[in-house]
Amino acid sequence: MRSHVPHIVGRDLHLRELAGALTDACAQRGRGVFLVGEAGIGKTRLAAEAVGMAVDHGMRVLRGRSTTTGPAVPFRPLTEALMSLFRGGEPLDDLPLGPYRPVLGRLIPDWGGDVPAGSSMIVLGEAVLRLLIATGRDRGTLLLLEDLHDADPETLAVVEYLVDNLDQAPVLLVATIRTEPCDALDLAESARWRRVGTTLDLAPLTRAEVAALAASQLGTDPAGVPAPALDRLWEDSAGSPLLAEERLQSMITSGSLVNGDDGWKVVGDLRGDVSTSMAKGLLQRIDRLGPRGRDLFSAAAVIGRRFPLTVLQHVTGADDRELLSHLHAGVASRLVVPDEPPPDWYAFRHPLTVEALFTQLTPGRRAELAGRAATAVQALHPELEGDWCQLAAGLRSEEGDVTEAGRLFAEAGRRALAAGAISSAVALLSRAERLLADSGDAVRRAEVLETLLPALAET
Ligand SMILES: Nc1ncnc2c1ncn2[C@@H]1O[C@H](COP(=O)(O)OP(=O)(O)O)[C@@H](O)[C@H]1O
Ligand SMILES: [Mg+2]
Repeated sequence: MRSHVPHIVGRDLHLRELAGALTDACAQRGRGVFLVGEAGIGKTRLAAEAVGMAVDHGMRVLRGRSTTTGPAVPFRPLTEALMSLFRGGEPLDDLPLGPYRPVLGRLIPDWGGDVPAGSSMIVLGEAVLRLLIATGRDRGTLLLLEDLHDADPETLAVVEYLVDNLDQAPVLLVATIRTEPCDALDLAESARWRRVGTTLDLAPLTRAEVAALAASQLGTDPAGVPAPALDRLWEDSAGSPLLAEERLQSMITSGSLVNGDDGWKVVGDLRGDVSTSMAKGLLQRIDRLGPRGRDLFSAAAVIGRRFPLTVLQHVTGADDRELLSHLHAGVASRLVVPDEPPPDWYAFRHPLTVEALFTQLTPGRRAELAGRAATAVQALHPELEGDWCQLAAGLRSEEGDVTEAGRLFAEAGRRALAAGAISSAVALLSRAERLLADSGDAVRRAEVLETLLPALAET
């Protein structure tokens, strides 16, 4: 399988915006465009398209990247980008840079010599701008700075100066930034306010786009992606192209998705095998929340992908302050998000986080937590109105209390039927029937069948 797809999926609006910005840059109307989104959402992929378009326009492309590995080197991304000017082998010695040339020695070692001491970031910004204008005059330049969230403050100072002053330059600056509180994001935001820069937010892919991504990776068309595999990809990725790719890869390597004579088909069980690299990454983020935070989120995971704080508090015995501080940490590290209805409900952003947390729990501990959560739901909502009944039922089933789970699913099923939701009623009652068969409670099972059979007939 290819590690990257031949076609970019979706992003039509963003591509149009970038194409326009490149054309403008060629006409001496440069600006800054910030591609913003969470890790794996496709910022680099989109930037690669911009590079492709720039090359098609005959523009010069300069690229630099910030990294977190190793000590923070000032100006790293800018130095990297400007160094590629030299690799082109063009004569740069007679560029009209005047007094700004020695200043650039801070970024370009070859121009070292006597770097004027104490020259300001503004002077340096101006020097870089003049270099970009001088080298891009007849064909335009795309300056791509990747992962600006990791950039050193010096780089950001220069970038800020550039963005403010590109409006008559043949230069488009494109920077990718992860959505997390950081100076780079503030910079993008303030550039937007001052109307010198544009921010393009990358949203998760739609289901149809996930299908297109999978199809393109499998070398088929979207109709050739088996429906159960697509369901799984969609659910597990929540529209993240990175997660969708990872998941697809793990289906193939685990042998549950195979390519036969008549196309791709699902042969095994698609559930449960969180790709290990993914799980590791998630677990690292969870680990940073500390042991208590991990306990808290494990209990939340047992409640479900969505969980109510009131129930979680009952289960863990955490006080308000502790609960909220861990929750804020979880939101900040983008593991959980507020959900409907506020303010009680939160949700894990990715189902894979839930699975990763489960790998940290023994089955016994998981059953115990589920039992405690069910007790909390029943204590907090004795009538089990709305969705509470089904939540309690699911938790009792996790706990292994099949009789109580069967009783609760039967109740939820009857209520669904009364509300006219026949398909849900059938699903809930069928589940109740199976559980009660397991528990050997023949009387209750007969009662459930009495309701289930006419409902089935109706569907
Ligand atoms: N729109 C898209 N169409 C097809 N593949 C995509 C798309 N967006 C991202 N991908 C793929 O998903 C993976 C992660 O994307 P990447 O651009 O590296 O994310 P980011 O830079 O935001 O962390 C890559 O393998 C990339 O090729
Ligand atoms: Mg990237």
